[in-house]
Amino acid sequence: GSDVSGEVIAVESGCQRLRRGDRVWGDIGANAFFPNGTQTKELGAYGTYAVALETQLGVFPETLGYVEAGTLPKVSLTSYKALVWYAGAPWKTDDTVVLVLGGSGGTGTVGIQLAKAFGASKVITTTSEANAAYCRSLGADEVIDYHVANWWDVLQPDSVDVVYDTVGQRGTADRAMKIIRTNGSFVTIAGSLSNHPKPGVHQHFFINSDTNLDNYGLLDDLSELAQGGRLRMPSINGTYALSDVAEAFQQSAGGHVVGKIAIRVD
Ligand SMILES: NC(=O)c1ccc[n+]([C@@H]2O[C@H](COP(=O)([O-])OP(=O)(O)OC[C@H]3O[C@@H](n4cnc5c(N)ncnc54)[C@H](OP(=O)(O)O)[C@@H]3O)[C@@H](O)[C@H]2O)c1
Repeated sequence: GSDVSGEVIAVESGCQRLRRGDRVWGDIGANAFFPNGTQTKELGAYGTYAVALETQLGVFPETLGYVEAGTLPKVSLTSYKALVWYAGAPWKTDDTVVLVLGGSGGTGTVGIQLAKAFGASKVITTTSEANAAYCRSLGADEVIDYHVANWWDVLQPDSVDVVYDTVGQRGTADRAMKIIRTNGSFVTIAGSLSNHPKPGVHQHFFINSDTNLDNYGLLDDLSELAQGGRLRMPSINGTYALSDVAEAFQQSAGGHVVGKIAIRVD
C-alpha cells in the first residue's frame, strides 16, 4: 500500500518539520534504489503503523476525515504532476480546454477538480452515462459516454489544449494529436506515447512513484486546495478492513470503481 493518513507517533532525531502528534497524509509508495543499485519499491501503508520519510508527509487537510484523506495522496500527486509539471497548469489564458479521459476513476476524479482549480475554462471528460452526473459534480462541463461515442469522433481537430489520459486505450496518443492545439500537451499515466507526435505538441508519460521521496511541498499545496473545498474524494466506492485487502484489489481490478476504494485501519 502507498497511501497513508494518520498521526505521527514517533520521529527520529533528524526530523525537522514534523513532531509526535502531528496529523499527516502522504503517498509512501516510492521507486528507490538499494546501495548496490537494485531498484526497489518502498511501500508499507497497509498496516496500523507505517514508516515514512519526513519529506513524504504533508500537513493533514483538516476539513477531511482520515478515510477520505487516505484515498487522495497518490491520485492527487499523480494528477497534480500531470497537469502542473507536464501540461503547463495553472493556465493563464481564459480559453484552456482540458480533456480528462476516464473522469470517474481516482486520478480522473482529481484530474477534473484540479483542471478547474488551475484555470481550465472547459473540462471535457469520458465515462459511462451512469457516472455523468458524478463527473459534472466534480466540475466537468461536457461528458462523453464512451459506450455510445468516441471522443476522437466527437471533438474537432485543434480544439483542446490538454489531454490527460488515465485510461490508456491503444491508439489514444495518435488520436489525441489530432485534437490538440499547437503548444498543447498530451499526458498519459496509463498508455503509450505517439510515434508521430504533432509538431508543437508536447507528450509525456511518467510514473508518480519515481518522484515520491520528496513530496511534502506538493502535498501542502493539495492540502490548501482541499481546505478551500476545491479537492475532495466524494465517491468512496467501498471501505475494506485490513484483513480484506485482497477483496479490495479484486474490486479495483474490475475496472469500474467510481472515485476510490479505501482500506480502513482501526
Ligand atoms: N503512472 C502513474 O504514476 C499512475 C498513477 C496512478 C494510476 N495509474 C494508472 O492510471 C489508471 C487509472 O487508475 P485509477 O485508479 O485512477 O482509475 P481506475 O480505478 O482504473 O478507473 C476506473 C474508472 O475508469 C472508468 N473507465 C473504464 N474504462 C473507461 C474508458 N474506456 N473510458 C473512460 N472511462 C473508463 C470506469 O468507468 P465505467 O465504470 O463507467 O467504465 C471507472 O469509473 C490505471 O491504469 C492505473 O494503473 C498510473
